[in-house]
Amino acid sequence: MRTTRRPPPRPALRQSVVLIGFMGSGKSMVGRQVAGRLGYDFADSDTLVSVRAGMSIPEIFERHGEPWFRAAETRELERLTGRSGLVLATGGGVPTIPENIPILHRIGLIIWLTASNDVLWERVSRNKNRPLLHTEDPRATLEQLITARTPIYESIADQRIDSTHLRHWEAADAVIQALRNADVPA
Ligand code: S3P
Repeated sequence: MRTTRRPPPRPALRQSVVLIGFMGSGKSMVGRQVAGRLGYDFADSDTLVSVRAGMSIPEIFERHGEPWFRAAETRELERLTGRSGLVLATGGGVPTIPENIPILHRIGLIIWLTASNDVLWERVSRNKNRPLLHTEDPRATLEQLITARTPIYESIADQRIDSTHLRHWEAADAVIQALRNADVPA
């Protein structure tokens, strides 16, 4: 009797995803949800830097300064290249270092999470963990950083998702949909 063999299932590529965007855009919360739902690993560049340094981000800025922090970020990104099935939430300043950009592209599909300035402010003003906003007028600093960084995010993003009116799980849905639209089995 002849049996018909089914073709083997197409192996999932488990394309990795890199979330970029401003502080407060929801990269970590959304990234964690995406990873959980796809069965991917989750990494957060801030956590990687902080754990390796053995201190919090504000302490790193205070004791070593921003350039030291940026170099540490780059080293962590380099360690993540070549991994499949990874969701990486990046610190908001990662794309501002030109050296990081090819590394991000090597890691995976780059998705930019945006939100309105008011919503970003509302989210970041809830905690004091962002040393760049430890200024006399943090709202003005936030606006300046947004203006300076928006073109950078825009130029490297493969896809953009506006999370202004989305809950985290809805933004996670949008990220998963973006992966599918990129024609990569998710
Ligand atoms: C920074 C963003 C922070 C953290 C550090 C610097 C930035 O990460 O890396 O405070 O330059 O925008 P989040 O974007 O996760 O807040």
